[in-house]
Amino acid sequence: MDNKVYVFDTTLRDGEQVPGCQLNTEEKIELAKELEYLGVDIIEAGFPISSPADFRSVQEISKVVKEPVICGLSRAVEKDIQTAADALVYAKRKRIHTGLGASDFHIQHKFRSTREQILEQAQRAVKFAKSLVEDVEFYAEDAGRADVVFLAQMIELVIAAGATVVNIPDTTGYCLPHEYGEKIKYLKENVKNIDKAIISVHCHNDLGLATANSVYGLMNGARQVECTINGIGERAGNTSLEEVVMVLKTHPYLNLQTNINTQHLNPISKIVSRTMRMPVQPNKAIVGANAFAHSSGIHQDGVLKNRENYEIIDPVEVGAGDSQIVLTARSGRAALNFRLEKLGINLGREELNEAYERFLVLADSKKNITDADLEELVEKQLV
Ligand code: KIV
Ligand code: ZN
Repeated sequence: MDNKVYVFDTTLRDGEQVPGCQLNTEEKIELAKELEYLGVDIIEAGFPISSPADFRSVQEISKVVKEPVICGLSRAVEKDIQTAADALVYAKRKRIHTGLGASDFHIQHKFRSTREQILEQAQRAVKFAKSLVEDVEFYAEDAGRADVVFLAQMIELVIAAGATVVNIPDTTGYCLPHEYGEKIKYLKENVKNIDKAIISVHCHNDLGLATANSVYGLMNGARQVECTINGIGERAGNTSLEEVVMVLKTHPYLNLQTNINTQHLNPISKIVSRTMRMPVQPNKAIVGANAFAHSSGIHQDGVLKNRENYEIIDPVEVGAGDSQIVLTARSGRAALNFRLEKLGINLGREELNEAYERFLVLADSKKNITDADLEELVEKQLV
């Protein structure tokens, strides 16, 4: 089994659907270049039929971004598919991503259709897209809640119609990791000619399981992961690119590799956050402000003895700079001494004990102890 995992970034499409985070064409181009530098394999640049501006964004990104495949989303209708193909005309490597609902819930309550009609429409859409571009990805929306036997039938038919990638979205973020993994395994084992297509995982985070579900999908045979920077996306968001990439990197026994330049993960997180006007929660894995910050005395002492006592990732590896020793009322002498030494202040044992007592009084009344606070504290003590 091939070990390469293709990273399909949908920050500019699924991510951009967040209210208030809409991007103009210039902003989208800037982010697309950053994604290219990050090393993603596919950029879903937009949904060209949705608006003239989105059409233009996909078109302009196709002109300037050369390494990754550029992908445009469409519903399973000819007008959408044709518009996506038109927007991608300048792309060196292009993909149309088309599809429709696979769960009975979506078939009945969204499409007001039947399983038979949906299968027919799915095949027609893929055949039409295939007449326009070579690389066609099919999405089976709400596959997470779909009957797996029907889903397998649908996937078999779209592969026969020419799909090169089959996307199995957990659109509503409903599945548990083992359930989602079993679904992918079932498709891998029961769909005729499944090896002619790449299985893609696309998970939403409604229960906080998007990354776990994506990883289980990959462990069960999927080889493309759809994700966004900082996990942004509608409702609770999509799978975080940085999380899934670092899960694979920190667990080499899984034998799954991506091409991501991990040192760009923190810089691109900040660029996306700033451009989309969407702050990153401080405790966010890999890219949160506190991801490599240590504040309690026990942890600080451990980290100062050996970083790996409390860090499974070297912050330099993900572009986060050095680990931080944050001073609070829960910090110990070792942390205070470390921070003072960084300021060029070397105290003897007795002096340090005295400084620590004064520090605790200050830290009880102030949340964040700065370098200036420390300098003042020691100055007062030494005069
Ligand atoms: O979540 C979803 O099902 C989607 C599809 C359009 C791929 O975003
Ligand atoms: Zn989605």
